[in-house]
Amino acid sequence: MDANRDTFETRLKNNARDIEALLDALLSPSAFSDEIARPETLRDAMHYAVLNGGKRLRPFLVVESAALLGGDAEAALRVGAALECVHCYSLVHDDLPAMDDDDLRRGKPTVHIKFDEATAILAGDSLLTYAFDIIAAPETTLADTSKASLVLALARAAGLGGMAGGQALDLAAEKQAPDEAGIIRLQAMKTGALIRFACEAGAVISGSLAEDRRRLRAFGEKIGLAFQLADDILDLTSDAATMGKATGKDAARGKGTLVALRGMEWAETQLREHVRDAEALLAPYGARASILIAAAHFIADRKS
Ligand code: IPE
Ligand code: IPE
Ligand code: MG
Ligand code: MG
Ligand code: MG
Repeated sequence: MDANRDTFETRLKNNARDIEALLDALLSPSAFSDEIARPETLRDAMHYAVLNGGKRLRPFLVVESAALLGGDAEAALRVGAALECVHCYSLVHDDLPAMDDDDLRRGKPTVHIKFDEATAILAGDSLLTYAFDIIAAPETTLADTSKASLVLALARAAGLGGMAGGQALDLAAEKQAPDEAGIIRLQAMKTGALIRFACEAGAVISGSLAEDRRRLRAFGEKIGLAFQLADDILDLTSDAATMGKATGKDAARGKGTLVALRGMEWAETQLREHVRDAEALLAPYGARASILIAAAHFIADRKS
């Protein structure tokens, strides 16, 4: 397990470096073909929103799921970059005064504090759109049918029935607390859907059998639930210096979380169970899945 952890940490770090280099190039000041111009402040805000630290866990999951199933590494990196754009957009909007109203993200002022609210809204809009650009662009060397599948899956994960819908339910839950099933559903949407996409994308990139796609998707769903559960636990147990974002806010805002409903001890046990279930889902791949399994552990054990 220790050797696995070393390998995992090295691969996470190397992948983050590659993703950041790619995102930096994609967000360069000069306009791409068929763009008219890249307004400087908006481009700066997008660059700031994306290249400001972050664990880069979602792109890592895309790349490692694709690696497990023999997919093209370069294409996987581009799909990972696209997903990170959607994730960063979701954070920029999540932090807006109309939503969670946060000043600190990844240890730095949030985009609407550093720039202004209108710029933060537009940076989010442009990052979301850019994700689909990155997948569809000719530099992503996948068959058009695979690209269309990825675009569809990402749209479903990010939109009304996925992340954005989950954010709406999350805000509604501040006013009227949902029951346990309601919280699980809202978390599967607001956080789980993008993580599920990350894992499922690896199978699409690899042109894998439906069975592999289903398995990776189920694994993504499990670790997605674990991810938000860990986030909710850390909101109570950690501090802003460690997390790089404000803590103790869920209870203050009356967020509907499982920790609030069922308590810390239950949540910790549940987290372990999710990791065990996630591990079991990848058993058919044997040792080849060790990096993804290490990722599941990382999600549960993370300190930030
Ligand atoms: C934070 O996601 C938002 C949630 C879905 C809870 P991460 O913890 O992955 O944030 P970064 O990308 O590492 O900053
Ligand atoms: C955020 O959940 C989920 C999305 C951004 C879609 P949180 O509101 O709990 O995330 P943090 O704690 O601000 O990172
Ligand atoms: Mg939120
Ligand atoms: Mg928030
Ligand atoms: Mg949170």
